[in-house]
Amino acid sequence: MRKKVIAGNWKMNKVLTEANQFVDDVVNKVPANDNVEAIVCAPFPFLTSLVEKTKGTNLKVSAQNMHFEDNGAFTGEVSPVMLKDLGVTHVVLGHSERREYFAETDETVNKKTKAAFNHGLTPIVCVGETLEQREANETKGLVEMQVKKALDGLSDEQITKTIIAYEPVWAIGTGKTASSEDANEVCAHIRNVVKDVASDAVAEKVVIQYGGSVKPANVDELLSQSDIDGALVGGASLEADSFIQLVEAGA
Ligand code: G3P
Repeated sequence: MRKKVIAGNWKMNKVLTEANQFVDDVVNKVPANDNVEAIVCAPFPFLTSLVEKTKGTNLKVSAQNMHFEDNGAFTGEVSPVMLKDLGVTHVVLGHSERREYFAETDETVNKKTKAAFNHGLTPIVCVGETLEQREANETKGLVEMQVKKALDGLSDEQITKTIIAYEPVWAIGTGKTASSEDANEVCAHIRNVVKDVASDAVAEKVVIQYGGSVKPANVDELLSQSDIDGALVGGASLEADSFIQLVEAGA
């Protein structure tokens, strides 16, 4: 039985006092339950404080990006070594906003995924098609290529631990959710891709999330699907009450 992973991706929102308040509000409400894992994906400046506040609790803290090098002359970048040292456990990689606005490529996503594992961080690797690609019937081929490239060169053990987030770009922040059947079909396809590149056993264990306008009103139906193991949530993760409702849906 795969656990459900509910991750709130705050993107570039909140200031430190708001981030701290959010965690104070939710930290003791996260169920102590092996069926669900709750994660907040916060901007870099909040990570130290949030890691401190969540020590010994069931709430995990993730970064939203990182560079793949350990250190060096990369002005403005943050390394996996730094994140690990802070106590961060997860890192979101290849989010469509990074692919669109910050020139993230499948190649850099692959390097970052490997770097995450080299430093004991769990990557949440995002894939997903644009509206044009969906309308051109390219969804499965595109997502398959993104997954294969991201996982290239990883061991079966690493692939098992990777969290894959299927986020159709047209459903992000638009209020348009993929129907639960459509989302499940693509997540099932991703699981088949993992079978191809690793094994049946790895594919059975790998966690595949859906992301794109997930909210308390639609989360139950999405999570009831056979191949959707959690949600990567933007807008609806910004309010403490709504985040906790999403986490409870996974418990
Ligand atoms: O990473 C989460 C995301 O891109 C979905 O955002 O606001 O549609 O839930 P949202």
